[in-house]
Amino acid sequence: MVILTGKPLLFICLNFIYVINVLIKAQQPEFLYHICQNATTYTPNSSYARNLNATLSSLSSTNSGYGFFNSSKGQGPDTANAISLCRVDVEPGMCQTCLNDSTVRLRQSCPNQREAIIYYDICLLRYTNATIIGNNDMNRDVVYLWNVNNASNKEQFNRDLRPLMNKLRSEAAAGGSLLKFAMDNTTGPDFATIYGLAQCVQ
Ligand SMILES: *[C@@H]1O[C@H](CO)[C@@H](O)[C@H](O)[C@H]1NC(C)=O
Ligand SMILES: *[C@@H]1O[C@H](CO)[C@@H](O)[C@H](O)[C@H]1NC(C)=O
Ligand SMILES: *[C@@H]1O[C@H](CO)[C@@H](O)[C@H](O)[C@H]1NC(C)=O
Ligand SMILES: *[C@@H]1O[C@H](CO)[C@@H](O)[C@H](O)[C@H]1NC(C)=O
Ligand SMILES: *[C@@H]1O[C@H](CO)[C@@H](O)[C@H](O)[C@H]1NC(C)=O
Ligand SMILES: *[C@@H]1O[C@H](CO)[C@@H](O)[C@H](O)[C@H]1NC(C)=O
Ligand SMILES: *[C@@H]1O[C@H](CO)[C@@H](O)[C@H](O)[C@H]1NC(C)=O
Repeated sequence: MVILTGKPLLFICLNFIYVINVLIKAQQPEFLYHICQNATTYTPNSSYARNLNATLSSLSSTNSGYGFFNSSKGQGPDTANAISLCRVDVEPGMCQTCLNDSTVRLRQSCPNQREAIIYYDICLLRYTNATIIGNNDMNRDVVYLWNVNNASNKEQFNRDLRPLMNKLRSEAAAGGSLLKFAMDNTTGPDFATIYGLAQCVQ
């Protein structure tokens, strides 16, 4: 992960924020969403296909120690870059399972696409032949998901939520080159707890 200064980092950090009122203990990673960029394709057995395979095969061995994975194989326009991010509060075995599932599923979901991203409840995987680290282009891959339950007091909920998420954003952004996450909770309206988690890609 690269330490950036100023605004770009904050934008990147916004990518992986969960606001949920119950932290669910995942039994199995749950698939949520994928995006095929449809920008460029590759031919099976091409150099990009081999690079992508090699990148995804090696990805699970690149854990930064904090749930961040990145791998790159090949050269020039056929370079395959991949990153993966596991939610920091899941156990490593579950993260590994999520990574394995996502590498298989994303290639099936977006066949021959050079660039795609997949979200599970506990991990995400993205690959592309463009540079990922240092590039602030994850913004277009944002997916919003929400808890369908309504807060009993909307105004109070938002008043409590904002400072919590601002704090987590600053903490995650200031966490150093590896430790790029923050978690906390606050007691919201009617004594319901609001949990927050922020995690950065770089
Ligand atoms: C993975 O990310 C780290 C930190 O940004 C960087 O030093 C390293 O070169 C990256 N590795 C690959 C293979 O991209
Ligand atoms: C890519 O193409 C699929 C199938 O046509 C479409 O559903 C999807 O929205 C497209 N993705 C983007 C990012 O436009
Ligand atoms: C894939 O490429 C390799 C090496 O270039 C070749 O040996 C193999 O026959 C090819 N496989 C297919 C299915 O085209
Ligand atoms: C990826 O490479 C491995 C060997 O490293 C091979 O067993 C596997 O069939 C390849 N998968 C694809 C989709 O090319
Ligand atoms: C990614 O691949 C496409 C298609 O071959 C190519 O046009 C583009 O320049 C490549 N991107 C990079 C950053 O090399
Ligand atoms: C993930 O895949 C790797 C490589 O195929 C395998 O060694 C590992 O046991 C798998 N991990 C899990 C948790 O399925
Ligand atoms: C939450 O509020 C919206 C708007 O008032 C309503 O449409 C929706 O049904 C409510 N959801 C639940 C789970 O009560």
